[in-house]
Amino acid sequence: MTNTNIPVITIDGPGGAGKGTVSLRLATHLGWHTLDSGAMYRVLAIAAHRHKISLKNEIELATLATRLEVYFSPLPDLDTTQVILEGSDVSKELRTETCGATASQIATIPQVRQALLGRQRDFCQLPGLVAEGRDMGTVVFPDASLKFFLTASCEERAHRRYKQLINIGIDAKLSDLVVEITERDKRDSTRTIAPLIAAANALVIDTTGVSIEKVVAGVLKRVLSVISEQ
Ligand code: DC
Repeated sequence: MTNTNIPVITIDGPGGAGKGTVSLRLATHLGWHTLDSGAMYRVLAIAAHRHKISLKNEIELATLATRLEVYFSPLPDLDTTQVILEGSDVSKELRTETCGATASQIATIPQVRQALLGRQRDFCQLPGLVAEGRDMGTVVFPDASLKFFLTASCEERAHRRYKQLINIGIDAKLSDLVVEITERDKRDSTRTIAPLIAAANALVIDTTGVSIEKVVAGVLKRVLSVISEQ
């Protein structure tokens, strides 16, 4: 169970909708912790490859998810999270679309999701948590104080991903990204367990054509107004 005395804000949505940037900037402003749950699935994909575990071996993958030695350090100035897996920095490898696609496959396995659930909830620490992913507001933190669901057109999300990848020195092709993002959206939204869906009480924000600064400002305004009412 989650600790209901600790405030949690959830930010869910498909890849490239701006969740990562918004959650890091919001958490920095509030002085709260962050959880990049997608990075957990991504790091598990890398670890499975390293340990030569087949993606079909659901039990071994779940065991690996429970034991994984991984540390996350938010780097808000760079709009990203540094990830150290078993002593090595995998932050760059983690962001490739190949890694995202494998993470999306692994994320369909119920035992893996169950194994990661407790680890995700452990991030809920005082003074508060901003958690981003696909099922933060629906499954992991259903009692969150405030829930957002960010979305944007597929083309715009592919464009943003393209820029992010090029910025960190990863080669990418825009047309490939459109195809990969569409496939990943479909898999994440249609899986039977914890699919990508807005929580009934989430505020849905379409960020198509809106700058990230404006999105952050809008989310922050809403958060501060809710906090001031409490
Ligand atoms: O947010 P991301 O692109 O880093 O996520 C990578 C994959 O991980 C995503 O395609 C599906 C999976 N994921 C998930 O199933 N549940 C989450 N809460 C976060 C990510």
